[in-house]
Amino acid sequence: MAGGASAKPLVLAEKAVMSTLSRAGTEALARQCCLVEIDSLASWLATPARASEVRGILITGRSTVDGGVLGRLPSLEVVSVRAVGYDRVSIPACAARGVTVCNTPGVLDGAVADFTMLLILALARHLAGNLQDARERWQSPSFSVGLGTDVRGKVLGVLGMGRIGSLLARTAASGFAMDVVYHNRNQLPLAKSGGARYVARDELFSMSDFVSIHLPLTPQTRGSVGAAELALMRQTAFLVNTSRGEVLVEQAVIEALKQRKIAGAALDVTSVEPYPAGGPLRRDDVLLTPHAASATRETRQAMSDLAANSLLKVLRGDRPTTALTPDFTNGKTTRRHPSGSAAAVDDAERRKD
Ligand code: GLV
Repeated sequence: MAGGASAKPLVLAEKAVMSTLSRAGTEALARQCCLVEIDSLASWLATPARASEVRGILITGRSTVDGGVLGRLPSLEVVSVRAVGYDRVSIPACAARGVTVCNTPGVLDGAVADFTMLLILALARHLAGNLQDARERWQSPSFSVGLGTDVRGKVLGVLGMGRIGSLLARTAASGFAMDVVYHNRNQLPLAKSGGARYVARDELFSMSDFVSIHLPLTPQTRGSVGAAELALMRQTAFLVNTSRGEVLVEQAVIEALKQRKIAGAALDVTSVEPYPAGGPLRRDDVLLTPHAASATRETRQAMSDLAANSLLKVLRGDRPTTALTPDFTNGKTTRRHPSGSAAAVDDAERRKD
């Protein structure tokens, strides 16, 4: 490597991550790395400098790291993603090259569960319409958006009972007296599900007043909520998604809304982000938010600090808190055969939730 073995490792860090790091996190990176702040990995790759020396990258969940990107960064040791979802990073390609991948689970659960509850309440109480009404039309005591619905006593169906789904279930049951059911790959012990009842997947869609999706994006979950599932839902029911847009078949959601098969949706995530002006999901019965569920100062700082800390650990040869790549031993991800194995891929996918 240019600069000799004792030189600080060259690290690329996206500005969106750097801007939310704590002072201590910023200082630790500056002390231990030769840090290059970049707008985004994609824009840096358009005119890369010292690519062969880059040993670490600190990126948001929006950046893609695939075999092509890895091929351009031959000295790369660690990809640290400031997000819990790492669907844009190819774990098999990283594992095949001995590159460790880290993410930031746990620290965002509260913020995302809170935001999901906020969306449920906003749908139930026509918040968007009421705000618009007050701004534009409020001239008499009557209001134009119609009566809302109580959430108390209503059924919330949580699809995916990982950390965030479980926290939402507990919040909705204990704070808002909702009757919570869930479906998950594995049925959880009652203590872990916060009292939520396990139901079959179809049943969850047919019995819920609100369905909230908390699935990681994997080949198995991509497009897994579509016309068949929406057809099971009640006409008065609402759909909420704070996981990944691609889990839904968006066209099916639009059709279900147009045909009034469901009452509305709140989507913090869409298959294309930012969501285009004039896109078909921009409708009065869809509450669109810009992938903001974890966007609080405290949570973004905790995520950025965790991602930076993991990156530094790997570069020092220590085990990071969250290594997603399989076969991480003795401070390094073991280089695998370039094709990676199916077992390795499955294993990596399993670790997501
Ligand atoms: C946000 O979407 C995340 O995956 O952390």
